[in-house]
Amino acid sequence: MSTNIDRNTGSTGRSIVGSAELFGRGQRVITGGNARLSVFQRPHPIYIASGTGVNIVDVDGNNYLDFLNNFTALIHGHSFRPVLDRLHHQLELGISFSGPTKLEVEFAELLCRRVSYFDQIRFMNSGTEAVMYTIKAARALTGKLKIAKLEGAFHGGYGPIEVSLDSAPANWGPRSAPNAVPYCEGTPEWYTADTVVLPFNELGATREILEGNKDKLAAVIIDVLPQRAGLVPIDRSYLAFLREFTARHGIVLISDEVMSFRLSYHGAISRFGFEADLCAFAKIIGGGLPIGAVGGPSQFMLAFDPTNGKPLVPQSGTFSANPMSMAAGIAALESLSEQSFQRFDDLGEHACSSLTEMFRRERLPYSVTGMGSMFRIHLRPEAPKDYREAHAAPEQQEKMGMLIRALQERGVIVSPTCQLCLSTPMFTDHIDEMVTSVREAAQMVEAARLENLGGQ
Ligand SMILES: Cc1ncc(COP(=O)(O)O)c(C=O)c1O
Repeated sequence: MSTNIDRNTGSTGRSIVGSAELFGRGQRVITGGNARLSVFQRPHPIYIASGTGVNIVDVDGNNYLDFLNNFTALIHGHSFRPVLDRLHHQLELGISFSGPTKLEVEFAELLCRRVSYFDQIRFMNSGTEAVMYTIKAARALTGKLKIAKLEGAFHGGYGPIEVSLDSAPANWGPRSAPNAVPYCEGTPEWYTADTVVLPFNELGATREILEGNKDKLAAVIIDVLPQRAGLVPIDRSYLAFLREFTARHGIVLISDEVMSFRLSYHGAISRFGFEADLCAFAKIIGGGLPIGAVGGPSQFMLAFDPTNGKPLVPQSGTFSANPMSMAAGIAALESLSEQSFQRFDDLGEHACSSLTEMFRRERLPYSVTGMGSMFRIHLRPEAPKDYREAHAAPEQQEKMGMLIRALQERGVIVSPTCQLCLSTPMFTDHIDEMVTSVREAAQMVEAARLENLGGQ
């Protein structure tokens, strides 16, 4: 993988003309050339042709080690045989129906067995939808409107919860009382008025903010490992406080585990020894197909219950609980044992310590955060503690873009924020190979930076 590098230019000689051509064609008919902002890349993204296990192949025939796995959704990597077999079987029986299937009952039973506080589940098609329904339920159950969220945390595309997703030094306000900053142009004023932004892991300041809003708060939504906020785990004492405070004041505690559900066999918040009132989860439970789900104790899930008339929160969806997603999800989760998660922890630890040690040895001013099967590389010598420290200034973003492209040229795929995740077909060899590529890519980026500085 890292053998064909030109010593003078750093180029690996990979051709991506097919991707360039598809981008050109795409731009004519798809705004921006491809249909997901998260995979948009300058000068253009690589277009993927196929994937098997830990590898993907692009339309030009280049091979890559996939450390992104469709943004953490593919916990078994690509073309996982048990998922494919289940899907082939279901394909013959029917793709979707206007009626429930046995599969959704079986899948809900499986999930309720694994997560101790789940009495019931509702299925939908994305993490965004799952988060949206938890918020609607919290508002309906409490009769209150405000939602508190952690600064910088990403919870999907539901408007009211996008607030302060990408706040910056110019608008984020004091650290102990962050501003509610709109994300999109045209954001209604009430989105920011009804969103309370909490400083991550800052217990004293958070207590003060929550005290001031407790009578108006419907929910506090957290992610125990917020990716965009630095992929720093929540402090146990901070979580303990949030759990106790919300329970005492009749506020719904929502755990967004769309990404972090892959932290443990029993769900993410359970790994910290706590239970949420409602959990929004997605990604790995779809086995690679679109999915979202809400789970929790019956007294919260009753918000969706139609058995005694119109529910507080009507929830439907043409493809909700479609049998293909259910079949793939069951196959994916049945292949994940408690040992699979232990193995992820061990491999993740190996990856983080190898990267940290390599950065130290090579005197590269980089650091690593993460937990379990997910970790993130930061272009700063000290690991960040929260969103503000993880926030990259424009010149750092540019450097990050260079690093990501250099990694791609060496055959390693990571996220636009340099997040990486593991899949079950990965072994230490794959991790060691990734660490070598990160070293080469980082050295190239640093050399280019020094050259630029020298030229100024
Ligand atoms: C924590 C979190 N919440 C919500 C979402 C939205 O999920 P989806 O992309 O399935 O709509 C994501 C997506 O990455 C996420 O990471």
